[in-house]
Amino acid sequence: MLVFAKIKSIQENIKSLEKGTSIGFVPTMGALHKGHLSLIERAKKENDIVVVSIFVNPTQFDKKEDLINYPKTIDQDLTLLKKINCDIVFTPTADEIYSNNIKPQLFNFDGLEHQMEGRFREGHFDGVGTIVKYLFEIISPHKAYFGEKDFQQLQIIRKMVRKNHISIKIIGCPIYREEDGLAMSSRNSRLSKEHRKAAPFIYKTLKQVKNQFGTKNVLEITKWVENEFKKQPLLKLEYFEIANEETLQPIKNKDFKQNYRAFIAIFADKIRLIDNISL
Ligand code: PAJ
Repeated sequence: MLVFAKIKSIQENIKSLEKGTSIGFVPTMGALHKGHLSLIERAKKENDIVVVSIFVNPTQFDKKEDLINYPKTIDQDLTLLKKINCDIVFTPTADEIYSNNIKPQLFNFDGLEHQMEGRFREGHFDGVGTIVKYLFEIISPHKAYFGEKDFQQLQIIRKMVRKNHISIKIIGCPIYREEDGLAMSSRNSRLSKEHRKAAPFIYKTLKQVKNQFGTKNVLEITKWVENEFKKQPLLKLEYFEIANEETLQPIKNKDFKQNYRAFIAIFADKIRLIDNISL
């Protein structure tokens, strides 16, 4: 496994690959868990080589505290990646990526960026767009893998690729969960024992929403979810929304020709967790 921290050296290595070598790319912020590994395994199956990037991207954090406290486990991550035979890892510093101008580019994702996460994390998707676009330019993969865990991010990356005529195939991968249903996330390691115990309630609620979607209307379901969370002292609901999968616009009424998803964000003390389910 080759590890590069410099743009020039990873680009030289990629340029030296035999012509026709297909490259699968999995961007991450590290603190790797089985959710990340499921993306990497999929990329390994579908490409000749796999590149993983580990970079905690400062421009996508709306709160300085969240950036500072984001788990960083680089040695452990590299051991894991070596074990699963990852080919190339890119671990740049913020200086390498942004020089000394840590600012995002501004994007127009045709409104996708104003929904849900975009409403509660100002500038988040400009930061995501900036780093992913730059990593795509550096690595030039054939395919790139993103988790449905961050479904809005996945749709925004698809939009960015389409709008900028970038010829990279974006592959969405299913959400990988703990046995008790909690969606795997790097932030889970920061949960207290008590909050970790309470957190599976998020997915349990989403599954009930899926059951109710056939018989109840959106307002009834939303009220029900809000009430359920009022009974959970350890989990504070930030938003619950049922939205169209393509436009991410919240819906009031169902049209059975469209695909919908329920999206949720909660705070477990200071730790923010998100999840979603296809309806
Ligand atoms: P990060 O949170 O590290 O996630 C990296 C990738 O792993 C994302 O595509 C995310 O959706 C996926 N992922 C995380 N948890 C998952 C789970 N439980 N099941 C399936 N996939 C999961 O998302 C980011 O980093 C950043 O925004 C990034 C795209 C790297 C840009 O900085």
